[in-house]
Amino acid sequence: MFKALLINSENEKPRISEISEDILRQDGVLVKVEYSTLNYKDCLAIIHGKPVIRKYPMVTGIDFCGTVVNDPSLEFKAGSKVLMTGFGMGEKFWGGHSELASVDASFLLNVPSGFTMKNAMQCGTAGLTASMAVLKLRDFGLTPDSGKILVTGASGGVGTISILLLKKLGFHVIGATSNKENFEYLENLGVQEIIETSTLSSAKILDQQKWIGAIDSLGSKALAGVCSYTCAGGAVVACGNAQGMDFPTSVAPFILRGINLFGLDSVYQTIANRKKAWDLLARCLTDNDLSNISTEHQFSDILSLAKRLIESKVTGRLVLRMQEN
Ligand SMILES: NC(=O)c1ccc[n+]([C@@H]2O[C@H](COP(=O)([O-])OP(=O)(O)OC[C@H]3O[C@@H](n4cnc5c(N)ncnc54)[C@H](OP(=O)(O)O)[C@@H]3O)[C@@H](O)[C@H]2O)c1
Repeated sequence: MFKALLINSENEKPRISEISEDILRQDGVLVKVEYSTLNYKDCLAIIHGKPVIRKYPMVTGIDFCGTVVNDPSLEFKAGSKVLMTGFGMGEKFWGGHSELASVDASFLLNVPSGFTMKNAMQCGTAGLTASMAVLKLRDFGLTPDSGKILVTGASGGVGTISILLLKKLGFHVIGATSNKENFEYLENLGVQEIIETSTLSSAKILDQQKWIGAIDSLGSKALAGVCSYTCAGGAVVACGNAQGMDFPTSVAPFILRGINLFGLDSVYQTIANRKKAWDLLARCLTDNDLSNISTEHQFSDILSLAKRLIESKVTGRLVLRMQEN
């Protein structure tokens, strides 16, 4: 038997339940999960179920790290330290909020060299997404000499790790936050300027040109404002919807300033792209960096933590220790 956060049906609340190993798929790589995390999407799944959860019963958790127990495909040796994010885990098939998981071998990566399993989950899906967003801006051609970069939802998971990476790469970073209490946290991360998210939401269709690049995890009016303030020829990576799914803007920033808007989905990226992004994280971030932006919690606290994250009462990353000591 093992413990997992199980949601039995659309009408039932999530509960940490004892489950028999026989239920797990037999042809997958069996992994003893050491760490998982709470991302925004996990909390939506735990608190609202749909639209994140596509079928029931479901075990939540869009990422995990753990030790291979057994791999029928022989791709991973028993004892290998592996990492899994996305591919529909915790949405279409059982996820990482579980002491044991059985997943397709083609979805797994080895924990990047230089990282512990905990480091990998201190980054988690949020960190992977941040790294892919930073790579998009770099591939577009932005360098520290190009100008300033804005990061919205700055105190959240994607925001925090985007800031850390951009700072390590030498960029001048502006953080946008909805809460003044986060100013000190953001200053400690090294942002040179801080703005309030409300200034984005109230921007004119074309406003002053303030930054050459941006990573946005909010969507809605905030993303519209990000585009309004972006310098001519600049680039915006849209990767989240913490403020909303809508995008109330006009074509003006695109046709009058030639700004470029890139979408990013880290869930179904190729293994090659994932390796590049994990490599950047492992090269840039130290154990100390990651300890400063994350807190470790017991699996048993998952429900109260999810509520706090959805209410924006969390800064940085929440890591879950999945095995009892
Ligand atoms: N595209 C992808 O593949 C991908 C992958 C991972 C995450 N995401 C998305 O990215 C977003 C962020 O994820 P996360 O895990 O970083 O979440 P998170 O840790 O909860 O961070 C989100 C941050 O956004 C700000 N925020 C939240 N609600 C807001 C609101 N109503 N208005 C304005 N600001 C608000 C808060 O920062 P401040 O307190 O600093 O304002 C919050 O900390 C989510 O929408 C998530 O679904 C997408």
